[in-house]
Amino acid sequence: MKQTKKTGRNTPCPCGSGLKYKKCCLKKRSGQLDPAVLYQRKYSIRLKNKQDIDGIRRAGRLVLDTLEMVEEKLKPGITTNEINTWVHEFTIKNSAIPAPLNYSGFPKSCCVSINEVICHGIPGNRVIEDGDIVNVDVTSILKEYYADANKTFLAGDVAPDGVKIVNVTLQCLRRGIAAVKPGNTIGDIGWAIQSYAEGEGCSVVRKFVGHGVGFDFHEPPQIPHYGKPGTGIPLTAGMVFTIEPMINLGVKELTILDDNWTAVTRDRKLSAQFEQTLLVTDDGVESLTPF
Ligand code: MF3
Ligand code: CO
Ligand code: CO
Repeated sequence: MKQTKKTGRNTPCPCGSGLKYKKCCLKKRSGQLDPAVLYQRKYSIRLKNKQDIDGIRRAGRLVLDTLEMVEEKLKPGITTNEINTWVHEFTIKNSAIPAPLNYSGFPKSCCVSINEVICHGIPGNRVIEDGDIVNVDVTSILKEYYADANKTFLAGDVAPDGVKIVNVTLQCLRRGIAAVKPGNTIGDIGWAIQSYAEGEGCSVVRKFVGHGVGFDFHEPPQIPHYGKPGTGIPLTAGMVFTIEPMINLGVKELTILDDNWTAVTRDRKLSAQFEQTLLVTDDGVESLTPF
């Protein structure tokens, strides 16, 4: 009996074109596919529908309210543990769950990263001093939807280098967001951020990246804050991901402290970060954590 070979990506196309299946009808077929199916198959990216987006937007509203509450109360003399308590209690009071708590063993409900700490600072007994720059990163789960955002605050009177790194980093986030629209790629976002940061004499952390978010804390794809224009996955409506540049005044390299979480700059110079959760819309971008 004749063995008919099963069609695979590299076998001749059944249409008889002489092309490999992947270069021929597989492509045509995928061109007709629902983008949600295509992005799932091709990139493991789960696009969000209207209901999902409403849910993430609500979680995002809570994250923003939490950051605003922290901003009002933050001042020199308080400990990072106190910030953690404010965030934890505010989140619970609003019927949500702080996503960091017990995430891969993380022991607290938010990250607080001061000065040379790039990210993942664990709240503890460190006291905020006059002149510190203080990043607070909040991720809330509300009715099973995740939103993730952070800001770097100025505590008291901050010296010009601190003001500079905070301003450059916020501008990096703004430029990254401006690169978000269907048809642009993930590399366009990275390039927008990297070219500006390096033009200002600052460096871009490579080790940590933005990420898909919404159904889970960290989903595909990764969103590097460096890259080349036109490279990487094309953006399409319904993608939800963070942009969260970590920008250093000195070198981009980092060291992880013995607690296995706290990332500090290798040269111990200042680092800042801002993060938002973004939705790709039909004609551009909507922030689900707008500030
Ligand atoms: N919120 C961080 C991010 O922007 C992740 C923190 S992981 C934790 O992706 F475990 F430290 F909370
Ligand atoms: Co994030
Ligand atoms: Co975050």
